[in-house]
Amino acid sequence: MATVAKTEGIKAFSATHDWESADYEPTLPVSEMSNPLTRNIDRAPASSIVKMLQACDAQMFQEKSGAAYERLLSDQVAKSLMEVAKRVQLILKNPQDSLIVLSGCGTSGRLAFFITSGFNRELRRLNHSAVCSYIIAGGDRALFSSQEATEDDPISGALSLKKVSEGKKRVLFIGISCGLSAPFVAGQLDFCLQHPDVYTPVLVGFNPTHQARNEPIPGCTFTFHSVVTKMRELAKMQKAFLINPVLGPEAISGSSRMKGGSATKILLEVVFSAAHAANFSRTPITYNGILQHMRSYGKVLDITYSQTEGIAALMEAAGRSLQCGRGLCYLSWGFLGLLGLIDASECKPTFGADYKDIQGFVGGGCKELGSKEGDLNLMGAESGIAHIDFLHNVLPCLTDKDTVLLLYSHSDDVDEVAKLARRVREKTSNMHAVYHQTDGDTAAQQGEINKLCSSTLNFIWPQATPASMGLQHMWELSTKLVLNAVSTGAHILKGKVYQNYMIDLQVTNSKLYCRATCLLQRLSGHPKSLCEEALLKAIYQVDKLTEDIMTCNLTTHTHTARKVKKVVPLALVCLLTGYSIKEAQSHLEQKPIVREAVEACLREQTLFSGSL
Ligand code: F6P
Repeated sequence: MATVAKTEGIKAFSATHDWESADYEPTLPVSEMSNPLTRNIDRAPASSIVKMLQACDAQMFQEKSGAAYERLLSDQVAKSLMEVAKRVQLILKNPQDSLIVLSGCGTSGRLAFFITSGFNRELRRLNHSAVCSYIIAGGDRALFSSQEATEDDPISGALSLKKVSEGKKRVLFIGISCGLSAPFVAGQLDFCLQHPDVYTPVLVGFNPTHQARNEPIPGCTFTFHSVVTKMRELAKMQKAFLINPVLGPEAISGSSRMKGGSATKILLEVVFSAAHAANFSRTPITYNGILQHMRSYGKVLDITYSQTEGIAALMEAAGRSLQCGRGLCYLSWGFLGLLGLIDASECKPTFGADYKDIQGFVGGGCKELGSKEGDLNLMGAESGIAHIDFLHNVLPCLTDKDTVLLLYSHSDDVDEVAKLARRVREKTSNMHAVYHQTDGDTAAQQGEINKLCSSTLNFIWPQATPASMGLQHMWELSTKLVLNAVSTGAHILKGKVYQNYMIDLQVTNSKLYCRATCLLQRLSGHPKSLCEEALLKAIYQVDKLTEDIMTCNLTTHTHTARKVKKVVPLALVCLLTGYSIKEAQSHLEQKPIVREAVEACLREQTLFSGSL
């Protein structure tokens, strides 16, 4: 009875409390909290899901006087952005022996690549040398497929930074970790702190510093928290910089690819655009300029979510495909396509998705995107991301049950879009498009493409955009929001979310292991030790933990977990019912919709407790 009472208690509590109050989920950092706005997102129809996501995204731009935390538009955040922009400008002015390095894990690393590529491209266009480099935990393979384990490796982080900046005399290092949690990034920041003559560290993340992860990192004398504490001291003398506004909990708890990813893109684009304008058009870097630029991103949210119905229709189409075991394909051109790839790759750890559930393809593939390690197609089927891979591997088997989404803009080769659209239309009528154009510009073939598609989200952007902000950046953020909404919503409709928790997450690194344990505690009401035990039993597929298993380290656990499906649901069913692993597995097979399986167990548990 205690179990149910606890779970019910948490539900009632969460629904009524503001996440900013001190007693709201007090043991969790903001980035891991559950958002009261999305408590019932798993039961909502597509149109309500979109509205909830809109409300969550709007929290990023909330300006509250006397708020407990720094926010995106806070004074201190704008000031830090100005200072970092000035450092970038210095490097632009005197690029010799200097480098800017952006680094992160998962989506944060992918965005590091995205922003680096865009900035360097712009510099090359102006005949300026490229000054920016990126690092992603797990190397380029992780750009388009989920490689979560390296996130736990601080040594690999430090070594990759050392390697990329070999011989440089001045390095501005920007480490991104939304949760202030990744050991990989902590290792790099610590490396910077050891070599202050060369490195200036900047940390981008979305928790207050006291909530930085403080768990010991095996083999290290530092934690993320201790590194941040040192940086805070150095920040007073501008020898380090912290950019850590709080965005409010994610719509799906812990899913930092959403608001965390969007804010990362916004903050870094503001920094780089300001530095670029200062260096090439002598526009001074000012506090007001920075704030104005940030605010203009808020308008992107308004324009994007003004098409709620269209986004909901796309979500429903994608949800239907996933529900019947078919897939969603993003077909794109240029850099909008990279956002499709980023969106698709994160579905695996977040929803336990198969890589075929949501796939992204972009024109010429890796070569076009300019990754460091070149042609990732050689690394196996999962990395085939060019249109040619789509034509060979996916098109022949496409049916009306699959959803295809074209992502393109007025500045892409619209002839090519029309050509591919015709080929796709021969196989499926379930084709849709997201198209960005500026007011007054129309592409001749757009009418034909529209006719081929069952629906088109047509975003028309005003010609006169704020001077500091490129149209391209607007289109990109808008596309990211739409894709995040569609892929998240589709998985919700498939039953991969319970309340607003990712119930079927992969347990492939220490952060995800802790998240899974917390979730089990929360949903079962059992103590941590029992939940961890159940998690291990599910990982190793045993009913009794052996001495051997108990002595294995966390890395072995998370490595083993890669091979098992539905680890968390399995552990939860065992915890709630006392079933053996086999029994729990067959229970989950009978109810393949994870949310329904979990709910059935919770119901049974309630009845059982009631009858006692
Ligand atoms: O390990 C999984 C993950 O949570 C990804 O979903 C995320 O993109 C990545 O870690 C990085 O997280 P952070 O930016 O908080 O370090």
